[in-house]
Amino acid sequence: MNVQMLLSSLAPLGEFLHWHQRLRTIDGWLYDLEAYALFLLAAQGPGLGEIVEIGSYLGRSTAWLAAGSKTAGREKVTAVDHFKGSPEHQAGQQFESKILLEEKSTYHRFLHNLRQAELDDHVSPIVGNSEETAATWSKPVRLLFIDGDHAYQSARRDFESWARFVISTGLICFHDVNVWPGVTQFYQELMQHAAGYREVASVVCTKVVQKQ
Ligand SMILES: C[S@@+](CC[C@H](N)C(=O)[O-])C[C@H]1O[C@@H](n2cnc3c(N)ncnc32)[C@H](O)[C@@H]1O
Repeated sequence: MNVQMLLSSLAPLGEFLHWHQRLRTIDGWLYDLEAYALFLLAAQGPGLGEIVEIGSYLGRSTAWLAAGSKTAGREKVTAVDHFKGSPEHQAGQQFESKILLEEKSTYHRFLHNLRQAELDDHVSPIVGNSEETAATWSKPVRLLFIDGDHAYQSARRDFESWARFVISTGLICFHDVNVWPGVTQFYQELMQHAAGYREVASVVCTKVVQKQ
């Protein structure tokens, strides 16, 4: 075994540990391994175009995407969220959000978290509905991360609204596959019927698909 090759993963691991220290307090539902995958894809993923995230909440996934692209000197992250929470975050629901209850929006905490991490200069937030924002969008996208409302129709709507902007060889990451039934059903249907999309990686509950 070549020792240099053996230790070649230390540099990216060191970067991950650096950012992990900084971002560990941002609450959210992204596992560390998924965070590292987003970091690597934002830093080194294929193609030229924008990075777009649907569903930011308090900025956990946003920060990891921005950390990757900023470290590599690549493009800013566009974060699309109405910041009113998903159905499960509302009062009395399974993942009731204390911040949403107190502040009625997660936007100020999202901005605060990005400022604390010194990543606010690398994120362009759009406060709005995913479908309506897509209707006014026109730029090519190289990396799309979908983590909005988890109902079947919503997962489908987010994909159909945004996938047309993804460049050939570009990547779409679906969060919560095999966690939320609606997301899982949509993803399985997509993989069965949609020509032109190929699963290239699976990291915890994030599926990474490449547009052919
Ligand atoms: C599961 S959270 C995102 C978690 C985040 N990616 C993380 O890493 O912690 C889902 C987010 O999607 C947003 N959302 C739900 N439906 C939406 C819609 N139709 N348009 C825009 N944002 C939406 C909610 O406000 C919520 O912040």
